[in-house]
Amino acid sequence: MSERKLILVIGGTGAQGIPVVEALSASPNYSAIVLTRNLTSTRAQTLASLPNVTLLQGTQDSLPSLHAAFAHKPHGAWVNLDGFTLGEKNELFYGIRAYEIARHHGVKHYIWANTDYALRIAGWDERYHWGHNDAKGRIGDLILAHGRGEREGGLLGGMAVSLLTTGPYMDMLFDGMYLPQEKEDGSFVWRNPAANGKIPLIALADVGKYSLWILNNPLQSTNLNLAVATEQVSFPDIAATFTRVTGIPATHEPMPLEEYLPLAEPYPHAYANWALGPDTPRDKSVMTWRENFSAWWRFWGEGKGATRDMGFLDGVLPERVRSLEEWMRLVRYDGRPRAVLKGLEDMRGGKGTRTGEGNKVV
Ligand SMILES: NC(=O)c1ccc[n+]([C@@H]2O[C@H](COP(=O)([O-])OP(=O)(O)OC[C@H]3O[C@@H](n4cnc5c(N)ncnc54)[C@H](OP(=O)(O)O)[C@@H]3O)[C@@H](O)[C@H]2O)c1
Repeated sequence: MSERKLILVIGGTGAQGIPVVEALSASPNYSAIVLTRNLTSTRAQTLASLPNVTLLQGTQDSLPSLHAAFAHKPHGAWVNLDGFTLGEKNELFYGIRAYEIARHHGVKHYIWANTDYALRIAGWDERYHWGHNDAKGRIGDLILAHGRGEREGGLLGGMAVSLLTTGPYMDMLFDGMYLPQEKEDGSFVWRNPAANGKIPLIALADVGKYSLWILNNPLQSTNLNLAVATEQVSFPDIAATFTRVTGIPATHEPMPLEEYLPLAEPYPHAYANWALGPDTPRDKSVMTWRENFSAWWRFWGEGKGATRDMGFLDGVLPERVRSLEEWMRLVRYDGRPRAVLKGLEDMRGGKGTRTGEGNKVV
């Protein structure tokens, strides 16, 4: 029997990380060690009950924690930092340090859970800059530049790097920004500031499968930015698909950002790293939630992120969920809320301020 290769998963208890840990656990090739702040959370315990999965207590924004995690000498690492806790500046710092520390400890394959570098894609127009995407996107560029530079310089024995770039989760139709409202007459409405552009929604269930593909196919995945989506759809498309699947009338009603933002923020005058709670001191680099999500809605709503090569993705993962309609049927989508994001779940659970070590001193 071949020995399982250990993969360190950072962000493994989150919406995006859970399918990755599940896929590693179910595969014949890998085992997972999951970094979490809280070994006893429901999500952590559920993962710990899976075969080939162990937990490790620590935080993403602490250098000793990162060193301790990588000191387990994993073959690979799958790293998703949480911008909603860390904030842009800390995510940038710890994202770069996590990569450097992985190299120090001799990791063989590093997967950076990336997001679109919106500011660069939008031609450096500041109206499209928001912290929780651009921090990841900058690090993604840096990691790929190192990887490609080393290949060109003949350094083939180094660490393989791959970006797994996700857009907004399709699963956010259950939770967070994309949840519709049910009207008194039983119809549904998506009332939000999106224009009619196409958004590259990704079904989270496939994130685990794409991650396995990356690990299993290093020749194809090294230095690749695998930018994934299930389907690129506009909000009118989402409403029409919902009606086709459920038979329930649905519409998209665009509303101005100024009206939408105060209704949608997690609590009044939240910052972009809202998950730390309202009372944690922040420095002036941290965007407000409203600034952050104004740019977010502009970029995705105008279709600036609809860049995915769906034909290529069909080749990589022939069994992928092919469309929003297929996903809605698969998950029995009914427009009603279900918990997806751990950060929101923790906030609703009244756990108060979450600790992010790097935010203690500003
Ligand atoms: N929502 C979307 O559509 C979307 C799309 C693409 C990318 N993203 C990105 O995904 C990231 C969030 O991940 P998610 O969607 O999986 O969110 P989530 O469900 O809220 O999970 C957050 C994860 O981050 C971990 N975490 C947070 N702060 C930590 C810290 N200081 N130390 C250690 N672990 C920490 C949590 O672990 P514990 O609580 O167990 O410690 C949990 O695993 C964000 O940066 C966001 O930009 C989101």
